[in-house]
Parts: sequence; structure tokens; C-alpha cells
Amino acid sequence: MTSIQRIDHVAIVVDDIDEALQFWRDGLGLRISHVEDVPDQESVVAFLPTGDSEVELVRPTSDQSGIARYLEKSGPGLHHICFEVDDIETALSHLKALSVRLINPEPVIGTGGKRIAFIHPESANGVLVELYELTADEPQIRFERASRLANRAIASSQVMAAGVRAFLRALTEDGRAAAEEVVDEQGQAESVP
Ligand code: CO
Repeated sequence: MTSIQRIDHVAIVVDDIDEALQFWRDGLGLRISHVEDVPDQESVVAFLPTGDSEVELVRPTSDQSGIARYLEKSGPGLHHICFEVDDIETALSHLKALSVRLINPEPVIGTGGKRIAFIHPESANGVLVELYELTADEPQIRFERASRLANRAIASSQVMAAGVRAFLRALTEDGRAAAEEVVDEQGQAESVP
């Protein structure tokens, strides 16, 4: 059975990467980790990490590739979504057994030497879906990302803990003040003959 680990990337086809960066980098504040020429896919890809996933801006480098035809036909936009699977062979044979239409019935090599396969949009509600399996050189990159996430989580939990302490302190002080008022009232009541 297929086991999806996470969304690895969302690919957006653009006709000009620099122009696209005006929104994705300058507007949203995403950073570019690197730009890669992918001759196999006749495209240039800019990678913009977003936590444990990435946005990929893809520009075709020829008129002939699938992605070039897509851009020609549909204009810039969301091109595909990629899931990391634990075992791509198992995932593909599971999908074949369900008669899902596959663009790559066997894994091919994608960016960064990843083993990938595309599923036809016809079988996925009009969405082009890519599957990929973690490669041997990636754990280090993943570890660095995970460390950054962990540090952020620790920092924000410290902020939260401080907030909770302040909240509890305020509650306690209010409670004490309320209790003192009650005592005062009772004191006054007792002093009235
Ligand atoms: Co992709």
C-alpha cells in the first residue's frame, strides 16, 4: 500500500522566472534556495522552500516539452503537486492495480536525481500528480530543515509558555483581589451592629 509522507512541492509554470519572483519572493517573502537547469524536462526551475515543502517556479526552455505546450495552451498557473512516497515501486503497482492512468508506469529521474513518476490528470480530478521517493543524499537536507523547524517550534513554545504564565498570574491576582473584597465586605458586615 502507498504511504504518502508529505507534499514535497507544488509546481507553478511561468513564462518568466524573474517576473514571477516579484510576487513569490518580493511579495510573499519566499527565499530561493537554488535555480536548476533540468535538460531532461527542458526547463529551468527555481526552488522556493516553504517549511517542509517547496514552491517550484518552472519555465520551459523549449517549445516542444509538455510543460511548454501547457504554458502555450493554459498560460501560467498551477502545473502539478508532488507527494513524497516511501516506496515508489509499490505506489505505482498499487495504482496500476486500480487502473489509474499513469504517465510514467515506471519511475524516471527528475530534478536532483530523484526517482519520480507522474499520474495522469484524467485519473486525479484534473490535477497532474507527481510521486517521488526520497533519495540517499536527501536525509542531510531534510535533517537541516527539521532542525530549523524544531528551533522555531521551541522558540514559539517558549513565547506561549510565557504567555500562559502571565495569564495564570493575572488570574491568581484577580482571584486574590476578589477574595480580599469578599473579606472586606464580610468584615464591614460584621462591624455593623
Ligand atoms: Co515536480
